[in-house]
Amino acid sequence: MGFLQVRQLRKRFERVTAVDGVDLDIEEGEFFTLLGPSGCGKTTTLRVVAGLEKPDSGEIYLGERCLLSHSQRVFVQPERREMGMVFQSYALWPHMTVFDNVAYPLRLRRVKAPVVRQKVMEALALVGLAGLEGRPAPALSGGQQQRVALARALVFSPRVLLLDEPLSNLDARLREEMRRELKALQRRIRVTVLFVTHDQIEGLSLSDRIGIMNGGKLEQVGCPEEVYYRPATPFARDFLGKTFALGGKVSRPANEGLEVRLDGMACSPLQVAATSLPSARGGAPAAGDEVMVAIRPEQIAIWNSTPAGIPNVVPATLEGVHFLGDRYEYTVSLGSVTRLLIAPASQVLKAGQRVFLELKSEGITLWPRSG
Ligand SMILES: Nc1ncnc2c1ncn2[C@@H]1O[C@H](COP(=O)(O)OP(=O)(O)O)[C@@H](O)[C@H]1O
Ligand SMILES: [Mg+2]
Repeated sequence: MGFLQVRQLRKRFERVTAVDGVDLDIEEGEFFTLLGPSGCGKTTTLRVVAGLEKPDSGEIYLGERCLLSHSQRVFVQPERREMGMVFQSYALWPHMTVFDNVAYPLRLRRVKAPVVRQKVMEALALVGLAGLEGRPAPALSGGQQQRVALARALVFSPRVLLLDEPLSNLDARLREEMRRELKALQRRIRVTVLFVTHDQIEGLSLSDRIGIMNGGKLEQVGCPEEVYYRPATPFARDFLGKTFALGGKVSRPANEGLEVRLDGMACSPLQVAATSLPSARGGAPAAGDEVMVAIRPEQIAIWNSTPAGIPNVVPATLEGVHFLGDRYEYTVSLGSVTRLLIAPASQVLKAGQRVFLELKSEGITLWPRSG
């Protein structure tokens, strides 16, 4: 059982179902991310968890404590949920100083002035803003405003920190820096985080676990490597990164050691582990089934000559070379199809040359032909 539990959350606005039956189980001290495209219901989920929005149905528990339940008629007010929130826009009060912005949640909770002073100073030190307490909030840079919002969310030592795309208004360089700082801060104070973003890199790099969200529903929950290399749905696969896919036909079913013969390719059939069959897609394919073999491009090793004793090698011709600084992107043709590959900058190949692609079996997933 999770520390923060969300059960069957639903929220409709006139015509759209923003959140459509979301369940979450987040452990204490975990960094959990809801990752999905704009409009998929991330902010609404976060606002419902914070108590800023009333859902149509669902239950929320923090530890043993019920924060929301329709059947039990429970609705705990936001300031009594022990949750700090950072909004996408930061939502600082422009007429207040940094000090008063950060002090606000404490004053709301009727904390005595000397304690307020001490806690505000601690929170500002924590986010690296000591000395700026007297500044008016608008006289700060974007990155500093973001830190004030974070200090304000942390100042009352909440049990959960809710972060709604807190880095998306920063420029690229600052965003990367703040991403690392945020992770370090979370490790240091061990607060449970529910983070929301549409940015795959942020989700993958910050999180202990990720929930891939689409159309108000969670499509998959898992650790970053799991959702990236073992996507459970076509949406998760395509949203998280590039895919190298080839059509084929199952020549031996799973219980006999799955084999897939690639369309129009004069190479041995691929040996595919039964673990390559995402469970979400029903039964294992039978012999004769048309499938798509998918793999992340960087899970493919490129050889100059046929490597001996290695399975799942497909011959190809290198058509185009694109230098991207830290890596190369190669266009290759395999029979009648053209695909993209990625290789480290240390591996230099020439256009026109013959190559042999080793599809690492641990990276292969199989999909129905339509997906
Ligand atoms: N207050 C609102 N009134 C009407 N529709 C809303 C409201 N808030 C969100 N929505 C709609 O709900 C869906 C989910 O929105 P949101 O939770 O903001 O998504 P995300 O944060 O993932 O971009 C969208 O279609 C959005 O237009
Ligand atoms: Mg949003």
